[in-house]
Amino acid sequence: TAGPDLAGRHVVISAGGTREPLDPVRFLGNRSSGKQGYALARTAAARGARVTLVAANTALPDPAGVDVVRVGTAVQLREAVLKAATDADAVVMAAAVADFRPAEYATGKIKKQDGQEPAPVVLVRNPDILAEISAERPRAGQVVVGFAAETDDVLANGRAKLRRKGCDLLVVNEVGEAKTFGSEENEAVILASDGAETAVPHGPKEALADLVWDQVVPRLA
Ligand code: C5P
Repeated sequence: TAGPDLAGRHVVISAGGTREPLDPVRFLGNRSSGKQGYALARTAAARGARVTLVAANTALPDPAGVDVVRVGTAVQLREAVLKAATDADAVVMAAAVADFRPAEYATGKIKKQDGQEPAPVVLVRNPDILAEISAERPRAGQVVVGFAAETDDVLANGRAKLRRKGCDLLVVNEVGEAKTFGSEENEAVILASDGAETAVPHGPKEALADLVWDQVVPRLA
């Protein structure tokens, strides 16, 4: 394993999946467990970094020596990540952030009405936090890393997404109901904006996390 090559660095990692409420008891969510983000937090701490972990709806214990900020929605996650990113050397967006949220929040539980069809759920876009941080770089020279879960044309979609988001590194993995989400293992390709592509064979999420830091370290300011 690597030495303390992140000593003196502050890294911000988002993990888990946002939940976008419809009413006090229901939400739109996703299958992210947070395990990959937590693995990134543990490995960064082991390599000497000061770590802020912004955790969205995870059921995992706080990693030792890591500053954990808990959030629910994409809007809350954006606030927490932007706040922590102002002095961060690297920002890694491993969270599954909902692209859309319900346009309206019902303050009381939505009820079914006898003989009536349900009202359609209208969605609005959430802010794209990764694109925003990549464009604005709250701290000059910071390294920004995104994750992309793709079900089809994984590499082609990943390369296009890396350009569209403007991040330095994009970790692309293939997902499906039985793949990646909630699993202890992952398989991915790390795409860099300078064209480098690193294939990561199937293995523990900790191993992928260390390979991500291996790519981040030489790009740090
Ligand atoms: O566009 P897509 O959701 O596939 O992009 C995935 C990457 O973008 C992840 O790193 C995720 O954390 C980030 N993201 C974001 N804000 C959003 C949607 C995704 O930061 N609203």
